[in-house]
Amino acid sequence: MKLAVIPGDGIGPEVVAEGLKVLRGVVPDVETNEYDLGAARWHRTGELLPDSVLRELREHDAILLGAVGDPTVPSGILERGLLLRLRFELDHHVNLRPARLYPGVPGPLAGDKAIDLVVLREGTEGPYVGNGGILRKDTPHEIATEVSLNTYFGVERVVRDAFERAARRPRRHLTLVHKTNVLVHSGQLWSRVVEEVSMEYQDVAVAYCHMDAAMIYLVTDPGRFDVVVTDNLFGDIFTDLAAAVSGGIGLAASGNLDVSRTNPSMFEPVHGSAPDIAGTGTADPTATVLSVALLLDHLGLPEAARRVEAAVAFDLATRQSGSVGRTTAIGDRLAALASS
Ligand code: NAD
Ligand code: IPM
Ligand code: MN
Repeated sequence: MKLAVIPGDGIGPEVVAEGLKVLRGVVPDVETNEYDLGAARWHRTGELLPDSVLRELREHDAILLGAVGDPTVPSGILERGLLLRLRFELDHHVNLRPARLYPGVPGPLAGDKAIDLVVLREGTEGPYVGNGGILRKDTPHEIATEVSLNTYFGVERVVRDAFERAARRPRRHLTLVHKTNVLVHSGQLWSRVVEEVSMEYQDVAVAYCHMDAAMIYLVTDPGRFDVVVTDNLFGDIFTDLAAAVSGGIGLAASGNLDVSRTNPSMFEPVHGSAPDIAGTGTADPTATVLSVALLLDHLGLPEAARRVEAAVAFDLATRQSGSVGRTTAIGDRLAALASS
C-alpha cells in the first residue's frame, strides 16, 4: 500500500500520527509519503497545492489527511485552495460519513437512542463550487452571490452509490435530505433522480426529509435514518450534528471517494484543525483511526478494517476519563488492540 499523508494544520499532525500507528499495527508494510501542505507552507512560500505535488499525490493508492485551517490565514484560503481543491481535482464525488453510537459511549440525547446511519454527501458540486462573486464591493449596495451547481451527472452518481450502499445494509432504507420546498430548482433535480434510480432498487425503502426537519429528527428520533443522501452543504451541516449526537466530533470519520477509482480517495476525520486545543495533547484521534478503517475497506482490506473498528469499540466501551497525554494514550491503546 502506497499512502500519501497530509498532516495539515492544528491538531491534524497530532491525530494523523496516531492514525498511522494503528494502520502500521494492522498493515506493517505500508509505504508512506508525507506532504507538507497547509498554513506553514503557505506562510513560507505562498503555495497551497503546487501542481507537481498534486501529480505526485495521484500516484498513491489513497491519501490520509488530518485537517486544514489556521487562525493566522484568512478564512477560505486553505479550505478552498487546499482541501476543496484536492476534493475537486481528485473527483471525490462521494463524501462518505458514517455516524454510529458505540456501546458504552455517553450520548447527549435523552433515552439511549440507537444511532447507526451513513451519510453520502455529494462532494464536488452544490454551493461549494465557487460559482458567484461580489458586485459593488464596499458600497451600501454590495451584492454577494454563491450559486449552487447541481448537475444530473453529479447528482445521479452519488444517489446511485447511496442506493448501492442502502441495498447492502440490513435495513435497506434511504432518505433524501434537501429543502425542496424552497430550493425548487435543485430540489426537483434531486427528487427526480432519487425517484428514477429507486426503480432499479425496488427493495430499498425511500423517504424524504427537509433539511431543517432533519435536524429535529436527528435529535429526537435519529433511528429513522439509515442511509442519507444529500448535497454538499446540507451534508456538511448534517454530519457535524450527527457526530455530536453519536459521541462527539472526535469520533466522526469520513472518506472522500472517487467511486470510479480513477483517482486516489482521501480519508480524514470530519473535524477541523481545532486551534482551541492544538498543542495540548488532548485531541481525540479516534475519528482519524476510524477514517483509517474506511481507507482499509476502500482498499479491499475488510478484515483489517474490522480489527481497527473492534479496537475502537473495545476502547470506547472501557475508556477512562483523563486528558493529559490523551491523544497518544488513545493511539497507543488502539494500535495495541488492533494488532493483537
Ligand atoms: P473544528 O472541528 O476544528 O472544532 C470544533 C470544536 O470541536 C472545537 O471546540 C474543537 O476543540 C473540537 N474538536 C475538533 N476535533 C476534535 C478532536 N479530535 N478531539 C476533541 N475535540 C475536537 O471546527 P472549527 O473550529 O469550526 O474550525 C477550525 C478550523 O478548521 C477552521 O479553519 C476550519 O475552516 C477548519 N476545518 C477544517 C476541516 C477539514 O480539514 N476537513 C473541517 C472542519 C473545519
Ligand atoms: C468538512 C469541513 C470542510 C467542508 C471545509 C473546511 C471546507 O467543514 O470537511 O466538513 O465544508 O467540507
Ligand atoms: Mn464540516
